[in-house]
Amino acid sequence: MRFSENFITELVERSDIVDVVSGYVRLGKKSGSNLFGLCPFHSEKTPSFSVSPDKQIYHCFGCGKGGGVINFIMEIEGLTFPEAVEFLARRAGMPIPEEENDAESRKRARMLALNKDAARFFYEQLATPAGGAAREYMAKRRIGRATAKNFGVGFAPDSWDSLRNAMKAKGYTDFELADAGLVRRGKTSGFYDTFRNRLMFPVIDVRGNVIGFSGRILGDGEPKYMNSPETLVFNKSRNLFALNLAKKSKSGYIILSEGNIDVVSLHQAGFDSAVASLGTSLTPEQARLLSRFTNQVIIAYDNDGAGIKAAQRAIGILERLDVKVKVLRLNGAKDPDEFIKLKGPDAFRNLLEASENQVDYRLRSVTDKYDLSEDEQKVEFLKEATDLVARLPGEMERQVYARRVAELAGVAQEAVTGEVERRRKRALRSARQSDEREQTRPERQMQPIERSLRYDDPGSAAAEEGLIRLLALDPSLARKAALPDPADFSAPALGKIYSLVRERISRGESVDPNLLGQELSADEMSLLVRILQKPEVLSRSDQALQDYIKKIQEQRDARQQGNDLLTLQQKLKQTKGYRG
Ligand code: UTP
Ligand code: MN
Repeated sequence: MRFSENFITELVERSDIVDVVSGYVRLGKKSGSNLFGLCPFHSEKTPSFSVSPDKQIYHCFGCGKGGGVINFIMEIEGLTFPEAVEFLARRAGMPIPEEENDAESRKRARMLALNKDAARFFYEQLATPAGGAAREYMAKRRIGRATAKNFGVGFAPDSWDSLRNAMKAKGYTDFELADAGLVRRGKTSGFYDTFRNRLMFPVIDVRGNVIGFSGRILGDGEPKYMNSPETLVFNKSRNLFALNLAKKSKSGYIILSEGNIDVVSLHQAGFDSAVASLGTSLTPEQARLLSRFTNQVIIAYDNDGAGIKAAQRAIGILERLDVKVKVLRLNGAKDPDEFIKLKGPDAFRNLLEASENQVDYRLRSVTDKYDLSEDEQKVEFLKEATDLVARLPGEMERQVYARRVAELAGVAQEAVTGEVERRRKRALRSARQSDEREQTRPERQMQPIERSLRYDDPGSAAAEEGLIRLLALDPSLARKAALPDPADFSAPALGKIYSLVRERISRGESVDPNLLGQELSADEMSLLVRILQKPEVLSRSDQALQDYIKKIQEQRDARQQGNDLLTLQQKLKQTKGYRG
């Protein structure tokens, strides 16, 4: 839906960016008029995330993300523009204007309806004769009727068109089915069902929408799972399997496992707060989503090398969100599903109660690697263990674990503490240096961080950026020169931003990034904010304006000539080719 300019302006005025951001990031340390904190969008040790109370925008010098208060909420809560507006309006106590459906939200609603109908179709197949194979497989995996119903587990028949036909009968078109990832276009003819002969797990978001599917092969074979592709409504890295159920759990924690089958099995055994991360390792967005529903996560990943690695990564991500993390030690089973089948729910409950906090877990992983009765190995152990302790954020924690390490190795506690502090200083120094290096690499400075927006003609792009910046800072300049056409720009993203800025100025509207969220993508918004952050001397702005325009036109002509030459060359080649 589209919101009026007046509504957005008022919403932004009532949502002070410093207040809003402070709910997520500890802002301190003023530099100029800006506040700085640790960026919530990428991992860093020294603050490069800045918020400007004057301009009401944020910008990270490290990862390049930036925008106004609405963009911030979109990014951090994983919301669309209208959802973020709703979120802030609720916060500010403002009523939301009547919904008018725009094309995009209609399309989303239609895709969600299709997914729901498809899920119902798959579910119904379980009871048909064709569903026999699936029923057998479920029996083998011990997935009961009630569990299947709770999750909406279904079956995609072994057929090229059964879903397609059923959905077309309900009025959906092939193109709608293809957009939703439910059918694919064949090389020679028509469309065919994406999911065939698979046990179907609908992926349901926290609002209860069926956003996609994960289909497991019945038995062995490759690929084991097929998942819906990214669609208008499905983004794997922002959703978790079964969070729709787990969020209602009263247990006070969420169990994070790897597999859909593990989750189903855990719920069936009474552990109703299990979720899985849809085949990716836990992403920061998923972690944030989790942190909206719980402050304690118990990791129950597979008992193998990959599982241990993934657990350590997940710990790091969750720790930054102040989520308490514990890790389960699955002895004698490869995953939670197998554990429950072998040893039963009570054994799993004991495991949950005995689960270690993340530091214990990591320290034990290190301890297990070495034979501490051998001096050489003891030295290696001390290196790795002190390194681990040095990375702990709390002073107290470091003390406690330094003592533990000293005991394990049989050395004096002071020796460990001293080494921990040395390592800590060194790590902080190098973190600061690498943050700085990262931010001052020349190509990093010039090129947008977003890959899709790379510049082909950096010379022109610099002038294009300059022109946008000048106009935004002083809109009156627009009347002082013949402005170039957006089509003269070398970088499409800059052309788009420029044409928006030019239009708004001609209508006498503000070019505050806070008001452009409906027009620009997240990447384009970050780019605009980055452009506005660069210094510009306004005292000689008339001259600068002329210089930028001249440069843009020169570069356009040069590119044009280059193209003509290229076409000529190609023509020549072709003619030769035909003769020869
Ligand atoms: P697993 O292979 O552990 O699957 O992958 P599982 O669900 O535990 O199944 P079982 O118990 O072996 O039968 C873990 C998760 O990774 C994703 C799925 O979401 C799966 O649940 N995955 C796995 C894929 O997306 N594609 C694959 O080919 C395999
Ligand atoms: Mn598994």
